Amino acid sequence: MKILNLVFHPDLTHSRNNQTWKSQFEASGKVATSRDLYSEYPDFQIDVKKEQALLLEHDRIVLQFPMYWYSMPPLLKKWLDDVFTHGFAYGVGGDKLRAKDLQLVVSVGGRQEFYTGFDIFTSVPDLLRPFQMTANLTQMNYLPPEYMFNSDAASEGIIQAFGERLVEVIDNPKRSDARQYLYESMDLASL
Ligand SMILES: Cc1cc2nc3c(=O)[nH]c(=O)nc-3n(C[C@H](O)[C@H](O)[C@H](O)COP(=O)(O)O)c2cc1C
Repeated sequence: MKILNLVFHPDLTHSRNNQTWKSQFEASGKVATSRDLYSEYPDFQIDVKKEQALLLEHDRIVLQFPMYWYSMPPLLKKWLDDVFTHGFAYGVGGDKLRAKDLQLVVSVGGRQEFYTGFDIFTSVPDLLRPFQMTANLTQMNYLPPEYMFNSDAASEGIIQAFGERLVEVIDNPKRSDARQYLYESMDLASL
């Protein structure tokens, strides 16, 4: 399985979480291609042909980013707008992403208590729903998203440990069947 890791962080050199996880992915040898998109496109002028060619070459696409305003950093939004075009990602002839995996890796500044899904609070999977809808439209497999709370206050040890778990699961082929994988990892298969 060829894995493409795309990191969207406006200031990766001052990032604690995403920089660490990107380095851990690279050191693991499990990720075929790893990129810092903000440094490649400081002027937001995305090379669409290059991005689409890279997507075609890989089987699992990892989008790694910090949660900003309950959403994604702006370059990631523009990347989706520019690269997931009609005739490529959806519409007539637009099946080029079919059966590829879409894996999100997200650092979340807020504490878990603020993402309970109760009353005024929402949950991270709910906030990430636009990605799931995008995966549906483009016929990609939406893998269970990976996210870490309290990312600004987390110790180096916690950040590293989260990264180690990411490295462990990132190439797991079972994740391509998200529901089955969740049942198995939660040990619900026997219920
Ligand atoms: C502009 C901006 C918006 C943010 N919005 C949110 C948010 O909506 N929810 C949240 O939990 N954290 C939010 N945060 C905190 C970031 O998610 C946090 O700083 C980031 O995940 C840390 O990762 P890093 O160490 O890789 O920079 C925001 C941070 C910034 C700078």
